[in-house]
Amino acid sequence: MVNTSPLLQMQGIEKSFPGVRALSGVDLTLQRGEVLALMGENGAGKSTLIKTLGGAHQPDAGTITIEGKLVSLSSPTAAIVAGIGVIYQEFNLIPELNTWENIFLGREKSGFFVDRSHERTRAAELFKQLGVDIPLDVPCRRLSVAQQQLVEIAKALSQDVRILVMDEPSAALTPQEVEKLFTIIRDLQTRGIGIIYISHRLDEIFNIADTITVLRDGQYVGDAPAKEMTREKMIEMMVGRSIENEFPKQAAEIGEPRLVVDGLCRGTAVRNVSFNVRRGEVLGITGLVGAGRTELVRLIFGADRRDAGEISLDGESLKIRSPQDAIHAGICLLTEDRKSQGLVLCRSVRENFGLPNLKQFSWFGAIGQKRERDAFGQYVDSLSIRIPHQEQLARNLSGGNQQKVVLAKWLQQNAKTLIFDEPTRGIDVGTKHEIYQLMNRLAADGTSIIMISSELPEVLGMSDRILVMHEGQLKGEITDVKSATQEHIMETAIG
Ligand SMILES: Nc1ncnc2c1ncn2[C@@H]1O[C@H](COP(=O)(O)OP(=O)(O)OP(=O)(O)O)[C@@H](O)[C@H]1O
Ligand SMILES: [Mg+2]
Repeated sequence: MVNTSPLLQMQGIEKSFPGVRALSGVDLTLQRGEVLALMGENGAGKSTLIKTLGGAHQPDAGTITIEGKLVSLSSPTAAIVAGIGVIYQEFNLIPELNTWENIFLGREKSGFFVDRSHERTRAAELFKQLGVDIPLDVPCRRLSVAQQQLVEIAKALSQDVRILVMDEPSAALTPQEVEKLFTIIRDLQTRGIGIIYISHRLDEIFNIADTITVLRDGQYVGDAPAKEMTREKMIEMMVGRSIENEFPKQAAEIGEPRLVVDGLCRGTAVRNVSFNVRRGEVLGITGLVGAGRTELVRLIFGADRRDAGEISLDGESLKIRSPQDAIHAGICLLTEDRKSQGLVLCRSVRENFGLPNLKQFSWFGAIGQKRERDAFGQYVDSLSIRIPHQEQLARNLSGGNQQKVVLAKWLQQNAKTLIFDEPTRGIDVGTKHEIYQLMNRLAADGTSIIMISSELPEVLGMSDRILVMHEGQLKGEITDVKSATQEHIMETAIG
């Protein structure tokens, strides 16, 4: 008899952490061969919900049934046995192990004379099945994010999953890699695998999802077939209010050139790059991943050594040899890799905020701490950082909220030149809007902003001028941003 029950049904799922009600009574239904997009703001409870599905968290209440049968997912192993594969926001690969060793980790046959070559062969088959070219005998730390993602997918497939969950898989992928991922997802779909997909990029959702389920503040808000959903409606369900204009760019008065970069070089990554950014200007820098954008701003920030080139600020030549020099000169960089470069996870969010701002806050002891608290409190409001209190450990924040803490920390520096590397990656649509408004305010105060972004609508929507990089060089400058198109930028970016 054909089983007519849904593939997966989660009902009344509850989960609390000290001071936080992460999930209250959440329902979710997934059918065979369906792609369900799980949507919600940063901290809405998406990752927590799928952690209960992956056996990483135990729900306080609620039931989970698979094909009509009640299951108890008491551990990650129990979830695997039940046919659930989860690719977490933070990957679970062991960096020192090879790709195929990671795929079979925890399930390898042990003993002295065991022949593990069949595991290697099986891994090669899985990669072939996915249509990807990934080296087998290379430690995972040497792979790109996209390749690590694919290893995670291969791992899930090797476990014969019926349900595959992906928590923000596309956050660090290029548009081409996302396309590839979608091809794989569509193929899994035809094999009857149900997929739960989490992303803050709304365009992707309309491209891949069959149904959309929205959470807000740990509660189920509703679901609908993707065909019946509009962008506006989805935003309203997620944020709880409508957002009139996704890119609320206000033209600030643009003044004299502030940061002038001349002939910057580093190996083949950055080749003879010259440009300037003026007071009150938002300069967008775009291009494909690997075009040298991050490498370029790391040179300006003194994080890497330049082979050649001059940097000057307000007409004065700068000798930047370290990030300290750059910060001292009034240049701050918000890095793209916020988790590893931006936060001390075992410290409280307040301490993380205070770290680079020690000078500002350490003068008066207890009074300093109060000032630190007050200053941070303002960012908690203006960036809607979701925390029960300022002493919460950074590790316990949702991915997007961790990024906001790093953002707050740098904004507090009152830098004259701010460099944002992918400022809204992993950030929800409501907060993106707030970050854009913040950029407006900073620009109105005369701050110069360099914004690296791969999101073309964002680059077009928020920049006064756009530079396009390709293979370490500047390939184009767009001064008339209003009449520029995504196609035009892409053509330049591809070279
Ligand atoms: N281990 C934990 N201890 C304490 N609080 C936690 C823990 N894990 C999650 N939380 C809290 O639960 C809430 C939901 O977090 P969750 O990670 O599920 O959000 P999310 O929807 O995945 O957000 P994002 O889009 O930013 O990834 C947040 O307020 C978060 O701080
Ligand atoms: Mg999350």
